Amino acid sequence: MAKIVILTGSPHNPGTSKTLADAFEKGARENNNQIYRYDAGLQGADNPHFLQLKKTAGMEVGIPDNDLVEKEVLPKLLDADVVVLVGSMYYFGINAQLKAVIDRFYDYNHELKDKHSVILMTAYGTQEDMAAIKLHMQLLQKYMRWPSLGDVYADDSWNSDKLQKHAQEAYEIGHQIH
Ligand SMILES: Cc1cc2nc3c(=O)[nH]c(=O)nc-3n(C[C@H](O)[C@H](O)[C@H](O)COP(=O)(O)O)c2cc1C
Repeated sequence: MAKIVILTGSPHNPGTSKTLADAFEKGARENNNQIYRYDAGLQGADNPHFLQLKKTAGMEVGIPDNDLVEKEVLPKLLDADVVVLVGSMYYFGINAQLKAVIDRFYDYNHELKDKHSVILMTAYGTQEDMAAIKLHMQLLQKYMRWPSLGDVYADDSWNSDKLQKHAQEAYEIGHQIH
């Protein structure tokens, strides 16, 4: 049984990256893994997760009071065996909602090291269009020391046949985790 944290970023619901996240989650749940999922792009106004800088001198990153990322997401991440980052490509990079949560890793960089990871990304365009996002994710996985258990870069995401094929890959990655 692995502890898995799934972080998604898209505000599009139901969207293409949600299809991959749901498929991964289904596969992982079938093996009774323990799963916590945070859908950053679907949070309401009560729960903003973009960085909120307190005007505290000398602080590079400030943390708002009663912040869900601080109270819930980061403790789950610290305890996790596997981190799954799920996003959609916006302007050749990962969308801002997911990035806002990744940026919160900063205070815990060392404690967060040495987990495993899965990357699930969708884009309307081609594999070539996804080159920068792949490199970004690979550098992040290397920096965090999070070896990959399998990644899916789902190009041509509005092609439902291709999306289903990529969702099956995501399902199989989830299903191999014990
Ligand atoms: C703001 C915005 C920027 C986008 N930029 C790109 C892009 O640079 N290249 C691309 O191939 N697709 C781009 N797309 C398309 C999305 O990557 C694509 O529709 C994806 O399937 C969305 O995933 P989602 O349904 O999970 O949100 C963009 C979409 C939005 C809304």
